[in-house]
Amino acid sequence: MIYRKLGKTGIEASEISFGAWAIGGGWGEQSDEESLAALHKAIDLGVRFIDTAAGYGDGRSEQVIAKVLKERSEEVAVATKTPPAAGPWPPSPYCNWSDRYSEEYLRGNIEERLRCLDTDTIDLLQLHTWTRAWNRDPQPFLILQKLKEEGKIRSVGISTPEQDQNSVIDLMKAGLVDTVQVIYNIFEQEPAAELLPVAEECGVGVIVRVAFDEGSLTGKFTPEHQFAKDDFRANYFAGDRLGRSIQRVDAIKANIEGSGLTMPQFALKYVLSHPAVSCVIPGMRSVRQAELNCAVSDLPGIADEYLLKMRDHAWNRGVWYSGK
Ligand SMILES: NC(=O)c1ccc[n+]([C@@H]2O[C@H](COP(=O)([O-])OP(=O)(O)OC[C@H]3O[C@@H](n4cnc5c(N)ncnc54)[C@H](OP(=O)(O)O)[C@@H]3O)[C@@H](O)[C@H]2O)c1
Repeated sequence: MIYRKLGKTGIEASEISFGAWAIGGGWGEQSDEESLAALHKAIDLGVRFIDTAAGYGDGRSEQVIAKVLKERSEEVAVATKTPPAAGPWPPSPYCNWSDRYSEEYLRGNIEERLRCLDTDTIDLLQLHTWTRAWNRDPQPFLILQKLKEEGKIRSVGISTPEQDQNSVIDLMKAGLVDTVQVIYNIFEQEPAAELLPVAEECGVGVIVRVAFDEGSLTGKFTPEHQFAKDDFRANYFAGDRLGRSIQRVDAIKANIEGSGLTMPQFALKYVLSHPAVSCVIPGMRSVRQAELNCAVSDLPGIADEYLLKMRDHAWNRGVWYSGK
């Protein structure tokens, strides 16, 4: 496993880090036993950074992680996320920051994160989403700065709202965030235009999420694939979306022939080939997935001719998690 600096946080993140959404729930059947085994295997194989959130099973993902880390001697950094207080998701331009991320609310939620993670300090606290409307008066980050000084959190990050990822660029330029968490994959290439270069210029750590496009870029789905009713992907890939994704993935598969990499390996290496990227956090829900994904760091990178071919596969979609 190769390690990269996560911006100026002091965290040495494993290139392949652990995305812990599915182990919290919302992805169909997932036993804690399997989640615990997947986490242990990932740490055995060199994973030293884990991404979770309050919303992943209402603290369940955090609790499973805390349980594993109590049994391990390795230094593993954990990033979690505080969501905005109840209201539209993503926050609408008409939302006031003081209704969604007030000091009282942030303090209360962060205390809950500390309890779920069974720790005194959070390595990296990310706001789970944002709206460009708050860029002119980004008070929530000044509140988080206070919590940093009080020792409740070590570093501060933002996870991009998927429909307007570039809204975090001003925050990086203003020095308000240590890290950004961004969707960047073979379909979603827009961050290469500005977000990633700005992160590199500002020394902001970049955590890449959804490298597999929630699974489609592993190349394993068929048009007949049925998602469980309690798997959020039944909605994400609803209607003709799964079929259209598969058609595009088939074209990618044809283009990577001869690269020496399988589709999931290629999808992870694609992300890691950008110099601004600190780590990628593929979702892993089994020992097998931990083994397959952790092995990718030590493989040779993608040859330039294959990287260039991927430019034809950028896909700007208007549909994210709202399902509309
Ligand atoms: N707004 C936010 O801040 C936000 C949003 C989304 C995600 N995230 C973070 O980013 C992480 C990664 O995103 P994600 O988990 O949503 O999606 P992802 O990484 O694109 O896809 C993960 C899914 O792909 C499948 N998979 C994983 N490894 C595989 C392999 N080697 N071969 C075949 N299939 C494999 C697994 O699902 P199946 O086996 O069930 O197919 C897995 O759950 C999350 O866990 C979370 O930590 C944050």
